[in-house]
Amino acid sequence: MPTTRFARFALPGELEFNPGPGTLGSLHIRNELASATICLQGAQLTAWRPRSAGNPVIWTSPSAQATAGKSLRGGVPVCWPWFGPHATQSTLPAHGFVRGLPWEVCASGRAADGATEVTLAIGDSEQTRAAWPHAFLLELQVRVGATLEMSLVTRNTGLGTFSVSEALHTYFAIGDIAAARVHGLEEVEFLDKTRAGDRRVEHQPIAFDGEIDRVYCNTSGDCTIEDPVLGRRIRISKTDSRSTVVWNPWDEKSRKMGDLGPGRQGEGGWRDMVCVESGNVGSNEVSVLPGALHRMAVRYSVEAL
Ligand code: BG6
Repeated sequence: MPTTRFARFALPGELEFNPGPGTLGSLHIRNELASATICLQGAQLTAWRPRSAGNPVIWTSPSAQATAGKSLRGGVPVCWPWFGPHATQSTLPAHGFVRGLPWEVCASGRAADGATEVTLAIGDSEQTRAAWPHAFLLELQVRVGATLEMSLVTRNTGLGTFSVSEALHTYFAIGDIAAARVHGLEEVEFLDKTRAGDRRVEHQPIAFDGEIDRVYCNTSGDCTIEDPVLGRRIRISKTDSRSTVVWNPWDEKSRKMGDLGPGRQGEGGWRDMVCVESGNVGSNEVSVLPGALHRMAVRYSVEAL
């Protein structure tokens, strides 16, 4: 069982290991500020709910399937070292390979303010070098408290420089996609993946009335998701992330995907979620010198509307 070898990182009553979902293994965190779950496959956080929030903030599909090698639908998949389809090899997995591989737990602890901190890591192996010929150590440092903070740290442990694209592909839980608005990307040029990669600019906050799949580059500021149905605003702050991706598949595409679930209103899980992904993709990809590291960080918080 994958969980026994991590037993020394357990914090009694606060951080425990579970064998599920399926056989993937996960760690469950509960403290006076929040609760969270992180799947060992992909270091994929699948739940976070601050005590003050009436509803989960991170969305995971009720139909998410626990399959080895395939990330669960929802939560925070880690996309690395490429984003989207591989540039030249269609047989390689979309969004890179680390989201489908088991990670190790390498540190845990309790912060002075009551938050729980845990670090997961994955390094190169014969399997990763077959897909991407570089030596690396990748860490995800997670801080579960009244806010959720995650840092993705790329270390180049080899002899040559490499470049990575990366994203924390976060699915946020919302009351109804048709009523939600995403603020903070007005006047930023985006690549519209629903229109063959057209480049466009919008002047208003993003409203949703169909599939949206947009890559915004050269944008480092906060985004907020305004949710009048749940009466809250989710704030996304980031450090050393210059790209933001906004995605909702809407009904037709989500039916083809098959794992978005029935949703709260029975209309489809796509109504209950929006992805606002912080990363460095496309022209914002990052070069890492031998022996150097690159850190990208996000911080999520919830405010009443
Ligand atoms: C988004 C992409 O980041 O992820 C979309 O922009 C993609 O094009 C979506 O459909 C989901 O990807 P996947 O591989 O997790 O189904």
